[in-house]
Amino acid sequence: MAKRKVNVALIGYQFMGKAHSNAYRQVGRFFDLDVEPVMKVLVGRSEQKLAAAAEQFGWQEHATSWEEVMARKDIDLIDIGTPNDTHAAISQAALKAGKHVLCEKPLAITLDDARSSFQLAKSTGLVNGICHNYRKAPAIAFAAQLVRDGRLGAIRHFRGTYLQDWILDPNVPLVWRLDKSIAGSGSHGDLNAHLIDTARFVMGTEFTEVSGMSETFIKDRPLLADTEGGLSGFKSSGDMGRVTVDDVTAFLARFENGATGTFEATRLAPGRKNYNRWEINGEKGSIAFNLERMNEIEVYLTDDPEGLHGFHTVQATDTCHPYMSAYWPVAHIIGYEHTFVNMMKDLFDAIGKGEQFAPDFQDGYRNQAVLDAVEKSAASRQWAAVER
Ligand SMILES: NC(=O)c1ccc[n+]([C@@H]2O[C@H](COP(=O)([O-])OP(=O)(O)OC[C@H]3O[C@@H](n4cnc5c(N)ncnc54)[C@H](O)[C@@H]3O)[C@@H](O)[C@H]2O)c1
Repeated sequence: MAKRKVNVALIGYQFMGKAHSNAYRQVGRFFDLDVEPVMKVLVGRSEQKLAAAAEQFGWQEHATSWEEVMARKDIDLIDIGTPNDTHAAISQAALKAGKHVLCEKPLAITLDDARSSFQLAKSTGLVNGICHNYRKAPAIAFAAQLVRDGRLGAIRHFRGTYLQDWILDPNVPLVWRLDKSIAGSGSHGDLNAHLIDTARFVMGTEFTEVSGMSETFIKDRPLLADTEGGLSGFKSSGDMGRVTVDDVTAFLARFENGATGTFEATRLAPGRKNYNRWEINGEKGSIAFNLERMNEIEVYLTDDPEGLHGFHTVQATDTCHPYMSAYWPVAHIIGYEHTFVNMMKDLFDAIGKGEQFAPDFQDGYRNQAVLDAVEKSAASRQWAAVER
């Protein structure tokens, strides 16, 4: 029997545009879906580059106005892969137009807008998703399962660092990620947001209060001549502009389950390329993860037999590990792009079954509430409660 088609419009065609496009193309080849994703229209602003991307990624059509695409009756799902300042307006317009929505993180650049998007999504009953794709890495999903199954007992600590070095060179231009009016914040919203989602997901608990600090080391950078260019082959205009976001944000946290947490995000850590590393410690064991070795977790269990205590490296590539039965024989590893493929599997399952996808706009709102509380704390040099 023919499957129900779900027509997708994706807005944005660079980094996330490529990752999401690949996932739409691959998801039905690995997973047996109830519905058929159709790569209907790719949306952007610059006709020539957009047309080339649509052809390369395999979209049927391209369009330069997301407002016009939103009004089309044949579009079922809007996927938002544009810079952060556009997320609230596009996702709210999509929900009002009766479309399911997948929004890249963050849900908005202010807590007020994130709360409005969440409340609107809740009132519509449409499928709404926030793109915290690391949850869909089998190793992280398996870590969450071990915690849910009580293998570590009560969790006492979450310790996360997310370190990169791509803006170390002061000649890296003032891309939108360094402009607060577009990005909302710097390393904090870009990288801590992922750790915040991981902590909530793996521990299954909420943040209650935080104490943060931020710093910007490189305060001026060359202005970008071509805003469509992304980072590869950028052209500087010759003028300098002010960096208005944090280079580093670190914070302490307390959680509803009584656990304590420490977090640090920076894009100025030489040699650390995508070092999303976290560890949890419970009453009966610990788990550690590093995205640069994303198929693995290190596991220590206090009830291991005498003489065998020590961290075990568990490769989460067996059929018993989340998502892995769809892929290769054991130990034939998967990569970054598969986190997006797995995310699309869950998204189309939700659309097909009329259920909700996780993480949803409530998760996006809660994430933003933590980001916001940390910024308030850093500004006031006081602990700040996280809005619930
Ligand atoms: N989930 C993740 O791990 C992850 C990773 C990277 C980026 N992101 C998020 O994805 C989003 C996009 O980031 P990116 O790295 O792909 O950015 P990018 O700069 O590589 O691409 C942005 C795209 O949006 C388009 N665009 C910009 N403004 C637009 C507008 N007003 N209307 C239509 N199109 C517009 C640009 O032309 C470009 O195609 C951001 O919100 C970012 O936080 C998430």
